[in-house]
Amino acid sequence: IQRTKIVDIFDPALVGKKVCVKGWVRTRRGNKHVQFVALNDGSTINNIQIVIDLEKFGDEELKPITTGASLHVEGLLVESQGKGQNVEIQAESIEIYGTADPAEYPLQKKGHTFEFLREKAHLRMRTNTFGAVMRIRHHLAFAIHKYFNDHGFFYLNTPLITESDAEGAGDMFQVTTLDLDNLPKTDDGKVDYSQDFFGKHTSLTVSGQLEGELGATALGAIYTFGPTFRAEQSNTPRHLAEFWMIEPEIAFLQLDGLMALEEDFIKYCVKYALDHCADDLAFLNKMIDNSLIERLEGVLKEDFVHLPYTEGVKILEEAQQKGHKFEFPVSWGTDLASEHERYLVEEHFKKPVIMINYPKDIKAFYMKQNDDGKTMQGTDVLFPQIGEIIGGSVREENYDKLMAEINRRHMGTKSLWWYLETRKFGTVPHAGFGLGFERLVLFVTGMQNIRDVIPFPRTPNNAEF
Ligand code: 4AD
Ligand code: MG
Repeated sequence: IQRTKIVDIFDPALVGKKVCVKGWVRTRRGNKHVQFVALNDGSTINNIQIVIDLEKFGDEELKPITTGASLHVEGLLVESQGKGQNVEIQAESIEIYGTADPAEYPLQKKGHTFEFLREKAHLRMRTNTFGAVMRIRHHLAFAIHKYFNDHGFFYLNTPLITESDAEGAGDMFQVTTLDLDNLPKTDDGKVDYSQDFFGKHTSLTVSGQLEGELGATALGAIYTFGPTFRAEQSNTPRHLAEFWMIEPEIAFLQLDGLMALEEDFIKYCVKYALDHCADDLAFLNKMIDNSLIERLEGVLKEDFVHLPYTEGVKILEEAQQKGHKFEFPVSWGTDLASEHERYLVEEHFKKPVIMINYPKDIKAFYMKQNDDGKTMQGTDVLFPQIGEIIGGSVREENYDKLMAEINRRHMGTKSLWWYLETRKFGTVPHAGFGLGFERLVLFVTGMQNIRDVIPFPRTPNNAEF
């Protein structure tokens, strides 16, 4: 008979029918008359209980059924006597696909710390928590594509290997086919990249934005959704060396529209998760963070605060004067750290904040300059628990102003000539933002460490699997 996924087995119409399920043993318990196996196949957080009558099965044949073993079970689906579960399967036949020796299998039923599970990242998706996180991650990714598709944005794939350093966002990973132990040199002693596959000095991208702007000024509205790479040595619970970023870019959009889009988009994602991941969120709410669902629902109800940087700094300075200790003191011009962002969001406003109009020296060259000559139209969305979840801006569309800023920063235009043509030919007001996907997953799952919301985290010294 055909296999039923466990997510579909709790269907009253199946009661009294013979069913087939396949999955991995979570736990086994029982007595000398009957044994109970909790089986999970990854399709849902819920296990199906397999009831094994010891008059029908011998001890020896059941012995390999331990936590982690994989089974094919057929039997009758019946209503359950046990509390908490509405159906169970009375086993008629059991095939063991693979055993998991209890002396070696690391995921025994007792709770493991997340630190321990990071060492077992190759197996940790088999735990309840990581199963829930990965399913929610999937649904959020789907929600993001759906949101943009439904709003008329086109999905644009931007390159991962690039010659340009879009952001100056952090150190870039070099990409080369040259032999690092034996680098070819030019006459003046520099590395001779002309002998490299790409013939130039290339790196992994830190952001698809600049190419995204090419798309927006041709297709109107685009979004990217792909991996980005930052070789920064920041060993924090919020930073990865390889993370996924979503970068919409929209022609004819200005500051108010940008902020409205950022807020609407995040709320849509949170609502989608509440609507489509109820079981997994209920599990995480119970096991990880009792205020998770309340916090998610709270975000949907709040209007995000629009806070000019200058006012935000005033609030932080007042907090300092009243004795609040920040690790890094704040004054106008400070690049805010996550402790400052979280103070504003969690202690002062107690709701999400969109901070705008940043000093130009702490933001990227491409942001639209305000008439005060000091600030730029950057928009960072700051979230409880997370700090910065989105970084965005209105872009400077005026060629001369943009060039002046590039020159002020001594950046050079050699690797940016193509970008500058967007301002030379049919330039338009436009804006966009970047959402760090893992930071969104962190927020929605209530997990505390970004290493625990991506299947295979890349952080300093961590690239084994
Ligand atoms: O603020 P960032 O550096 O902005 C950009 O890259 C712009 N080009 C985006 C744009 O306007 N199109 O990064 C955007 C977001 C941050 O707000 C944060 O959520 C996430 O990307 N992020 C990281 N996430 C995980 N690990 C890291 N090392 C991250 N660096 C940034
Ligand atoms: Mg940023």
